[in-house]
Amino acid sequence: MNALELLLNRRSVSRLTTPAPEGNELQNILAAGMRAPDHGALRPWHFIVIQGEGMNKFSNLLEKAAIEGGLGKEIEEKAKNAPYRAPMIITVIAKVVEHAKVPAWEQVVAAGCAVQAMQMAAVAQGFSGIWRSGSWTEDPIVRAGLGCEENDKIVGFLYLGTPELRAPAKVATPDLTNFVSYL
Ligand SMILES: Cc1cc2nc3c(=O)[nH]c(=O)nc-3n(C[C@H](O)[C@H](O)[C@H](O)COP(=O)(O)O)c2cc1C
Repeated sequence: MNALELLLNRRSVSRLTTPAPEGNELQNILAAGMRAPDHGALRPWHFIVIQGEGMNKFSNLLEKAAIEGGLGKEIEEKAKNAPYRAPMIITVIAKVVEHAKVPAWEQVVAAGCAVQAMQMAAVAQGFSGIWRSGSWTEDPIVRAGLGCEENDKIVGFLYLGTPELRAPAKVATPDLTNFVSYL
């Protein structure tokens, strides 16, 4: 797939099914994440690949967070089911460190670039996905369950798989007027 075509036409897909990327495909996705631009070569990220039995563990973790947070039966059910919207999730955590030249925000942005790179590497190999976040990224039980340290920031849950339906409609060519200026 042509790189420019990918960048101009990419769409997120929320309804995902098997197969998920595996073997070399998955390695390519993770390697693309590792190649994200990174000030100071800190590699300020950690990727947690969730699949198979890991999905059940993640589902239990979200359910526990909803129960202990007193969020009510409806949210508990939603939390429990959330992971199964795709056969694979890659959680991306920004591992933010104190650094004289690389402020925290740059490290979080670098981890965000890793999410985008992995999503595009998935699409380039015939898969699809969607970057999700939501309140679970800040939840102390979810953070602890995913091994987050104090300065860590969960920048996203990248849901990956094969589109359930046909590809979504192409996006219109963006109108740049209000977003770009030239000096
Ligand atoms: C940091 C970040 C967090 C996001 N969180 C969510 C989310 O929790 N739920 C959701 O439906 N979309 C979320 N999105 C948006 C989707 O990933 C996607 O970009 C959006 O549905 C638009 O579709 P498109 O990528 O095809 O333009 C998030 C995007 C970013 C960059």
